[in-house]
Amino acid sequence: MTDRVFRNLGMELVRVTEAAALSAARFMGTGDKEAGDGAAVDAMRAVLQAIDMDGIVVIGEGEKDEAPMLYNGERVGNGSPPAVDVAVDPVEGTRLLAFGRPNSIAVIAVAPRGSFWEPGPSLYMDKIVVEKAAAAAIDITLPPAENLHRIAAALGRPVSDLTVFVLDKPRHQGLINDIRKAGARISLQTDGDVMGALMAAIPGTGIDVLMGIGGTPEGVIAAAAVKAIGGGMQGRRAPQKDYEKAALAAGEGDDAGRILTLDDLVRSEDAFFAATGITDGPFLEGVHFDRAGGVTTHSIVIRAVTGSIRYVKGIHQLRPEHVFGRMDTQGAVQIAVR
Ligand code: FBP
Repeated sequence: MTDRVFRNLGMELVRVTEAAALSAARFMGTGDKEAGDGAAVDAMRAVLQAIDMDGIVVIGEGEKDEAPMLYNGERVGNGSPPAVDVAVDPVEGTRLLAFGRPNSIAVIAVAPRGSFWEPGPSLYMDKIVVEKAAAAAIDITLPPAENLHRIAAALGRPVSDLTVFVLDKPRHQGLINDIRKAGARISLQTDGDVMGALMAAIPGTGIDVLMGIGGTPEGVIAAAAVKAIGGGMQGRRAPQKDYEKAALAAGEGDDAGRILTLDDLVRSEDAFFAATGITDGPFLEGVHFDRAGGVTTHSIVIRAVTGSIRYVKGIHQLRPEHVFGRMDTQGAVQIAVR
């Protein structure tokens, strides 16, 4: 027993993801990716200002010119210590939300200043994620089948019992064929590899491995969660766009071919991660507007120092002073804070 109880910043950050999810959830199925994302950004930013921290957004909505809010470099929090890096994805899975599909989440990760890997010009990276018991078995430079055999051996299970989360993208056709040949099961999802990573890192979720190429921002955010959980992850830049390839060829990414370990992606043992479901998913339920004047959220909060994982169910009363996710009489979503 220690004689001091330390602050769990994650318990405060969950209010940030709840607010983003509450506001974004109104846009489920509208077909409008930007509107849902915009509502989540506004809400997230407003609640962030109330948090005791001196944060700099290092993984945000993009560069200042193209993203007016939560841009990379923006200061967030009320300016008091601790000095931290902040990685946000107000809506991870904007298409999932726009089309009412499972697994869109609002997510934030925070770690001491200077801890998060900064992807520079890289938009895409290859990723492999597993639970703790298989962490030492993975090697992103090996073929998928070999990784699956090593993971299965580490977990004491046949490869045929493993389920691999893969984004359903043309670039993954070879990967999908390899996994099928190895005999593992596949969960093919159109979007949302932060959720895939989370499920792969937590035992017993129905997903055992995440494999394939997704966004670099999502990779850093996922790494914060995987590190906090104590799972295993490796990454490697995997440029897909021509301008991304050109920037890397011009030397803008000094570690272009390097294997990125969890310690490279998050250079601290003191990370916090919070996520709130927007649309329903098998792991996190979404926002339910199911009570008169009330609304339910489901979140996960993870703290690296202790490895604690909390599932937080919030029941919110949408009174005029709590206006995230409330509709006005014209049906517009209110996001102002009073
Ligand atoms: P958005 O929320 O920004 O739309 O990202 C969703 C996502 O599926 C991520 O989970 C994933 O890392 C990335 O997009 C993959 O990018 P792409 O769809 O361009 O292959």
